[in-house]
Amino acid sequence: MFDFDTPYSRIGTDCIKWDEQIAKFGKENVAVGMGIADMDFKAAPCIGKALAERCEHENWGYLQTPKSYIESIVAWNKRRYGLEIDPETIVLSSGVHPALIAAIQTFSPPGSKVLLTTPSYNGFYSDLTYCRVTQEDSPMKRVDGRYSIDFEDLERRISHDTNTLILCNPQNPTGNFWSAEDLTRLGELCLERRVVVLADEIHCDFVMKGQKYTPFASLPNKRIVDNSLTFKAASKTFSLAAMKSAWFFSTNPDLLARVKVNHRADINTLGVVANRAALTEGDSWLDQLLPYIDGNHEFVEGYIREKMPLVKYTKAQGTYLAWLDVSQVVDKIGAKEKAAEASKTSPKPVTPEMIVQKWLAENAKVVMTPGAEYGTGGEGHMRMNLGTSRKMIELALNNMASALNKA
Ligand SMILES: Cc1ncc(COP(=O)(O)O)c(C=O)c1O
Repeated sequence: MFDFDTPYSRIGTDCIKWDEQIAKFGKENVAVGMGIADMDFKAAPCIGKALAERCEHENWGYLQTPKSYIESIVAWNKRRYGLEIDPETIVLSSGVHPALIAAIQTFSPPGSKVLLTTPSYNGFYSDLTYCRVTQEDSPMKRVDGRYSIDFEDLERRISHDTNTLILCNPQNPTGNFWSAEDLTRLGELCLERRVVVLADEIHCDFVMKGQKYTPFASLPNKRIVDNSLTFKAASKTFSLAAMKSAWFFSTNPDLLARVKVNHRADINTLGVVANRAALTEGDSWLDQLLPYIDGNHEFVEGYIREKMPLVKYTKAQGTYLAWLDVSQVVDKIGAKEKAAEASKTSPKPVTPEMIVQKWLAENAKVVMTPGAEYGTGGEGHMRMNLGTSRKMIELALNNMASALNKA
């Protein structure tokens, strides 16, 4: 049995989730860091063991790509999802970001548009800025807390200079898993309109109870799959983000070759050792973690329903991220007015959600990510990271409920 219940302090390890928030909001205002997408748990023991063994050999020179690492990626995808990946098509990267940037730079020249279904991962926007391309947000529809792709809107937004679409499955921050039907419809549209699908499936291992992950590359229509590249990593699954290792692949040799020309990323020894160990020996750890995360989502959903009338939450289908509707909190604390006032003296616009973030830190000692960072449709929301022990989540919710009662 692995212990996910005992809180594991990361303070003082130079981590963004805790140390950066403490520097920003003050130690007294951070009882629970629930921002950036990594987890607080002690890593799977197989990772520490493999790293310790490797550290016994004290030489850190240039590394060749070990075949065993590629094999561990192929085997993981086959074992867990029945997905066959040709090892020859796997390109290692130091992260999904550098890989995505290479792909965007390949297909979408500066000034052209990249399509996204939103709300969508805030990091995509910095990649677009880096590539000097423009975001084309297609806001998703929302019915009873569930999001769905607005295909009519998506189609309308494709113009002569839309060459790529970033698909996020499961979608960060909303937690949607996309069905085979949705993916096929999206794939058909992109194929027809000559838009290359960049499928970011970095959160795919977090499948909540009753849900299913359909890899884009597993769709039966080969032409649809050949119009895509998939980007993955074990870095969310095993919380290895700063070990800097990810990969991408495509069934289309032409697309792959073109992206490789623009891709320059080196691998690092400890990253390879940690990721390979996780993918080879980490199944049992993940299999125990998944119900725990699912329980966290259920706990949050139930707690909010019963004790936080100003907040709404519909349980995510995937990811350890909870996308909270805080629009009533925005109104209650006058966040729109405060944001407008603060924007007058700030070099960058201050959003109402940034005001909510600060308010929650100062009044509930909880730090979450402001929803407006996630593009169109992110207003009135906060993203809460549930990759932590239930006790921390309970503390965060109790603090929030009591702060909101007093508001
Ligand atoms: C959807 C998505 N893609 C990419 C990344 C970043 O990937 P990497 O750390 O491998 O660059 C994240 C991190 O939160 C993410 O949520």
